[in-house]
Amino acid sequence: MVDRPYTVLSAGMSLDGYLDDGSDERLILSNDADLDRVDAVRASCDAILVGAGTVRKDNPRLLVRDPAHLEASPAHRRTGGPVKVTVTAHGDLDPCTAFFSAGDTDKLVYCASPAVATTRHRLHAVAQVVDGGDPVRMARVSEDLHRRGVRRLLVEGGATVLTQFLTEDLADELHLVVAPFFVGDPRGRRFVDDGPFPFDSGRRARLADVTRLGDVVLLRYALSDRFGAT
Ligand SMILES: NC(=O)c1ccc[n+]([C@@H]2O[C@H](COP(=O)([O-])OP(=O)(O)OC[C@H]3O[C@@H](n4cnc5c(N)ncnc54)[C@H](OP(=O)(O)O)[C@@H]3O)[C@@H](O)[C@H]2O)c1
Repeated sequence: MVDRPYTVLSAGMSLDGYLDDGSDERLILSNDADLDRVDAVRASCDAILVGAGTVRKDNPRLLVRDPAHLEASPAHRRTGGPVKVTVTAHGDLDPCTAFFSAGDTDKLVYCASPAVATTRHRLHAVAQVVDGGDPVRMARVSEDLHRRGVRRLLVEGGATVLTQFLTEDLADELHLVVAPFFVGDPRGRRFVDDGPFPFDSGRRARLADVTRLGDVVLLRYALSDRFGAT
């Protein structure tokens, strides 16, 4: 069996299943209580992965904010915090975005082989660019992260990346937050794209927990038999 990190997928969506709307602004689905929860989950992980689309659209910092969470974070003690990871086919990433500029933690960019040289040229001062193959497969990314010491991986979207982790059966746990409003904007991204998901009406995922956090609800699903092992 190939080793890969224990993998937690995390996303917030509207009542009609959108991760975002079509505007240039980042859509706020979360609330303070949920942000605090996500901060603690980040602190418990060795690496946080988002797709290049999320880096471009949301410009996330992907840092642990609360000093108490940092104090409790094994990754903080080892490496200053969870490693930031992204994937790209084209390498169209701005080295000035918060993903690269915020925090002293390591940054890894898994890039499709044809774009590795130009991406290394663009990002050499801010990140390690790894040849992810052509195409980049999330299974290979997971295995490589495990070889680098990542034992617990948090995947924070967006839809393209979440879909791949789910359809390739690489996820152990899903944290899905539902915000109490609709988006109704076809320019937005829904939680996942279509694909051959390992769970369907004949094989239902196990709902492990439901937590109310103010006006949002957190659904926690067990997606593998490793659930809860770490
Ligand atoms: N509500 C939430 O919890 C949440 C969380 C995160 C994001 N979002 C939203 O989700 C949206 C972004 O989602 P998205 O699906 O458009 O983008 P995404 O999943 O963040 O990133 C997609 C991009 O990642 C790269 N990529 C993905 N899989 C790849 C592979 N196998 N090989 C090589 N490159 C790969 C490609 O980058 P290149 O184009 O550079 O080649 C691709 O265009 C944004 O609107 C954001 O606001 C919401």
